[in-house]
Amino acid sequence: MTSLCHARIAGTGSFLPPRRLTNGDMVAMLARRGVETSDQWIVERTGIRARHFADTGVTSSDLALQAAQQALEAAGRRAEELDLIIVATSTPDMVFPSTACILQRKLGVHGCPAFDLQAVCSGFVYALAVADSMVRAGSARCALVVGAEVFSRILDFDDRTTCVLFGDGAGAVVLEASPVPGILASELHADGRHLEILCTPGTVSGGRVLGDPLLKMDGPAVFKLAVGVLESAARAVLAKAGRTEADLDWLVPHQANIRIMHSTARKLRLPADKLVATVAEHGNTSAASVPLALDVAVRSGRIRRGDTVMLEGVGGGFTWGAVLLDY
Ligand code: ACO
Repeated sequence: MTSLCHARIAGTGSFLPPRRLTNGDMVAMLARRGVETSDQWIVERTGIRARHFADTGVTSSDLALQAAQQALEAAGRRAEELDLIIVATSTPDMVFPSTACILQRKLGVHGCPAFDLQAVCSGFVYALAVADSMVRAGSARCALVVGAEVFSRILDFDDRTTCVLFGDGAGAVVLEASPVPGILASELHADGRHLEILCTPGTVSGGRVLGDPLLKMDGPAVFKLAVGVLESAARAVLAKAGRTEADLDWLVPHQANIRIMHSTARKLRLPADKLVATVAEHGNTSAASVPLALDVAVRSGRIRRGDTVMLEGVGGGFTWGAVLLDY
């Protein structure tokens, strides 16, 4: 009998809500509130040109469902075959139950473990590493790993330093047991000393919202930490897998800021055309950003079977991590 001791991505999927807002739309929307910004500032500082916002009433699990169905189809799998569902999100449908349980119900299946993972913009990388461990341990053979967010719900549209940066969306992969890797290595880290530089500090208590329920970010502090940890995580995961930068076909980093992505690619001596960048069209979709970018690159034929791909996440917590895989 062949031993299935590795995990490989069998299929990818993604979904963006149809409402697309260009920088021009944001400029007009913020102007009505007396908040000044410009297309030029947003493009020059971030690389973002547009983002998608979900309509009122559309939740993370709605976006996750569309992405999951696409990933299942690409993998040639039925929802009934899933034996694990992990949803990475910071914008869950409810306090509880988890968005993963809601997604499981929307997929029309039941029985398999389903849980959310909260690591903000590193959420998908964390979730993929956890699913990989469970597959390699033999406790799952066909896992659905999703990043889904409706960040538009937690944006402060009076704060121009944050509200122009984020968007909504979902990305998903089906991870299955395989005799060959697949996922080669992963690196996960967190440093809670930096909680305050990126947070949504509000909570629900006694039937009321306590504290501020909108996103707060010290952009320059996050920028500085991000460029350092993305390089160290990349080098550590390559060393763990016994690979070097020269083995990399693609870098799929968290899509927060094109300047951070270019800096990481430069440090790894990776040509710009090996960097998958979707931030211009998606904005920062937090946990959804890496699987969304991965799916776009797979569907456009850029990432092909056998390519070596590095996924990298960085975000609130402070959290960061990398997953190296042969696609
Ligand atoms: N429009 C016009 N001007 C603006 C805007 C805006 N939307 N936002 C800020 N400015 C102004 C500021 O007020 C400031 O003006 P001043 O010099 O007169 O004070 C000036 O632009 C520069 O502001 P900075 O904040 O220093 O701009 P910076 O170049 O650092 O860019 C940015 C800000 C884009 C947020 C950047 O710091 C960044 O990308 N940080 C990292 C974000 C990130 O990686 N997040 C990942 C994780 S996200 C998560 O986990 C949820």
